[in-house]
Amino acid sequence: MSESALTRLEEKEVQAHQGGGPERVKRQHDRGKMTARERLEILFDPGTFFELDAFRAHRATGFGLERKRPLGDGVVTGWGEVEGRLTYAFAQDFTVLGGSVGEAHGAKICKLFDLALESGAPLVGLNDSGGARIQEGVDALAAYGEIFYRNVLASGVIPQISVIMGPCAGGAVYSPAITDFTLMVDGTARMFITGPDVVRAVTHEEVTAEELGGAGVHHTRSGVAHFTAADDAAALALVRRLLSYLPANNAEDPPYRPPVDSPGRADETLDRLVPDDPAQGYDMREVVRRIVDDGEFLEIQEGFAPNLIVGLARLSGHVVGVVAQQPMVLAGVLDIDGAEKGARFIRFCDCFNIPLVTFTDTPGFLPGVAQEHGGIIRHGAKMIYAYAEATVPKLSVITRKAYGGAYIVMSSKHLRGDVCLAWPGAEIAVMGPEGAVNVVFRKELAAAEDPEKERRRLVKAYREEFANPYVAAARGYLDGIIRPSQTRAVLSRSLEALRGKRVRRPPRKHGNIPL
Ligand code: HXC
Repeated sequence: MSESALTRLEEKEVQAHQGGGPERVKRQHDRGKMTARERLEILFDPGTFFELDAFRAHRATGFGLERKRPLGDGVVTGWGEVEGRLTYAFAQDFTVLGGSVGEAHGAKICKLFDLALESGAPLVGLNDSGGARIQEGVDALAAYGEIFYRNVLASGVIPQISVIMGPCAGGAVYSPAITDFTLMVDGTARMFITGPDVVRAVTHEEVTAEELGGAGVHHTRSGVAHFTAADDAAALALVRRLLSYLPANNAEDPPYRPPVDSPGRADETLDRLVPDDPAQGYDMREVVRRIVDDGEFLEIQEGFAPNLIVGLARLSGHVVGVVAQQPMVLAGVLDIDGAEKGARFIRFCDCFNIPLVTFTDTPGFLPGVAQEHGGIIRHGAKMIYAYAEATVPKLSVITRKAYGGAYIVMSSKHLRGDVCLAWPGAEIAVMGPEGAVNVVFRKELAAAEDPEKERRRLVKAYREEFANPYVAAARGYLDGIIRPSQTRAVLSRSLEALRGKRVRRPPRKHGNIPL
């Protein structure tokens, strides 16, 4: 090989690695953002990144674009290892044409997708882009369409994670929205369909970009962001942690990590954790942490619908998805946001062979005009659908209240919960004692000499007769009533027993979940 051929390659490599040049790189750094290559270096185990298409360039002309043909076309794509496991990733380079998506940029992402899908490995997208490349017109839109199509094809086959590390606006937001998880970096990430200027022109609302589509608002209000991170490095560390819970694809089990924490460990504190007063809250997060391996729980959508907790943990070394009410927030009611959050998480776990562990303490669905008119009927139905549809092992523990429809919804035997348990103080009935007494004994209460005293007597009697776990256990609707301190041991053994679970369902194209 001639010396000049090698020299030419070297020059091209330098060109491909320089991004948008020192000035734009400095601007990126000044904003607290890393470059695409810096991000990929942190995402992958050192020295494992293999780049594809470094020399790819667009072929568009017009609007001066013919004079700008940067190598790589504003996106770095390839594969590497995360804790030794194959992972694919693309990182948009905002310093090159604003990370905008044109034909070549999109084709690079699509090529990566096809490889990831065929080789059965997760795909991580690092988004930092001005959106569809204006000068490429419909070719830019076509590129997005091809990406969306692959997002959908890959859904439920390989895990897809989107990290928003800069702008992600217009229709571009729909790629992250289809993926399994979206992480946003505080202060720099922005997601909106139309920005503040368009909003002002159309609706006359004054809003800043941060207020409209920053990480905070999407984590707490819209539910779009599953996680937020303080900066790029923290976001990438979080992606690595999240990947440690996920299988490479839907044909594999999640990674097993031999437990240091003994599967049979008892926790006496749990025996006294639920307050005697049924109206008093307690922290379900603490219950979860005391039961799972080493108290490690990766909570998902922590800031959105905090009345329902969802997240990933390990039980005797096996990854499980936890769904639990939080009695400290709105007494753990089920509402529209909570139902959507729960249903999507349950379906994610079912796609990727992650057994479900449910902890129930809910007075039922949230009453109110806003909930009814907001569609609690169709949104609440999603939870029922998701639990009934899921074929992974399903374990549940009723820690206290399980009233009305919420009893059925929360992984009950009737939706084919595999092992359904309750703590001894559990209350399972059609409705809470006060409501039940008012309905059944309305006339008697009205006629009573001392209605308040009579009400108290009837509530006590109702609690003893109905609002306990023994009626359900007598029917076989519960498989056992256990001491809270033994929960970890019982769940660990149950999970072992169900590891080979296989369920066959009638063939169909797909079900019709009430979206
Ligand atoms: C081409 C773009 C671009 C775009 C940015 N640039 N967005 N080039 N197409 N969509 C270029 C700029 O010309 C500039 O080039 C460089 O990227 C950096 O942009 P700046 O504006 O200097 O950066 P900043 O001030 O940080 O502003 C970032 C920004 C802004 C907020 C993203 O650039 C912006 O508003 N861009 C347009 C966003 C947009 O409307 N996109 C289309 C959305 S609709 P130089 O050479 O000066 O460095 C969409 C549809 C998706 O995406 C279709 C799916 C259905």
